[in-house]
Amino acid sequence: MTEVSVAKDDVPVTGDLVVLKSVNKHFGALHVLQDIDLTITRGEVVVVIGPSGSGKSTLCRAINRLETIDSGDISIDGKPLPQEGKALARLRADVGMVFQSFNLFAHKTVLENVMLGQIKVRKADKKVAEEKARALLDRVGVATQADKYPAQLSGGQQQRVAIARALAMDPKVMLFDEPTSALDPEMINEVLEVMQQLAREGMTMIVVTHEMGFARSAANRVVFMADGRIVEEAVPDQFFSNPRSDRAKDFLSKILHH
Ligand SMILES: Nc1ncnc2c1ncn2[C@@H]1O[C@H](COP(=O)(O)OP(=O)(O)OP(=O)(O)O)[C@@H](O)[C@H]1O
Ligand SMILES: [Mg+2]
Repeated sequence: MTEVSVAKDDVPVTGDLVVLKSVNKHFGALHVLQDIDLTITRGEVVVVIGPSGSGKSTLCRAINRLETIDSGDISIDGKPLPQEGKALARLRADVGMVFQSFNLFAHKTVLENVMLGQIKVRKADKKVAEEKARALLDRVGVATQADKYPAQLSGGQQQRVAIARALAMDPKVMLFDEPTSALDPEMINEVLEVMQQLAREGMTMIVVTHEMGFARSAANRVVFMADGRIVEEAVPDQFFSNPRSDRAKDFLSKILHH
């Protein structure tokens, strides 16, 4: 905890925004998350890296309660994850998620995609939702695409719309699970630049990515996972120049010199 003050509704405000304590998760015999302890403070950008199958996506999905956990606790902004119903819908809005595949609603226009959650979950007025959607589309550089359908956009444009859609809910934290790994190389930077900008503006972000340039320049901390465990955490410079564990050394040698 870095700071403690008291908000208007008497809920203590601390620097801790996402807190996982002793989180365990199995898929059958596979122990996919093993005693995960992780605290992300407000405004922090954490990059999660690790070999395929190490549990990175499961970790993200657990934070958004797209996966249940077997034991341990996860809280967002001091509150335990809700089990179901409206509280769960609000949680999903508080925790914006951007996946590898773009997951836009195919039969809605770009503008409608960014308006929908504001109206349904945040109960925003249609006019207000539209103005906000247009402003966000402008911010991610796709304002001119507002009336198109997702399939008419490039992958990089679709992913920027997905970011705008998540931002429209005023999330407390944004989760990105390999947001650029399905993109053609020339589109990766346009998405990373939007993410860099968000990071600079102080958004709290958890980012699973193999983009080590992004990790170096935008992350406050790198979390390295292997076999369902957090093996190592460090500031990017330290992690990349001087990894402590053999697993991390091995992983870095494979991704940095191929
Ligand atoms: N719904 C599921 N049912 C059973 N096993 C699953 C399920 N989802 C994931 N797994 C398994 O859990 C392990 C961790 O998967 P996860 O997708 O979290 O890994 P990851 O670190 O994101 O990998 P990648 O880098 O390939 O995306 C893998 O062995 C995977 O096969
Ligand atoms: Mg994954």
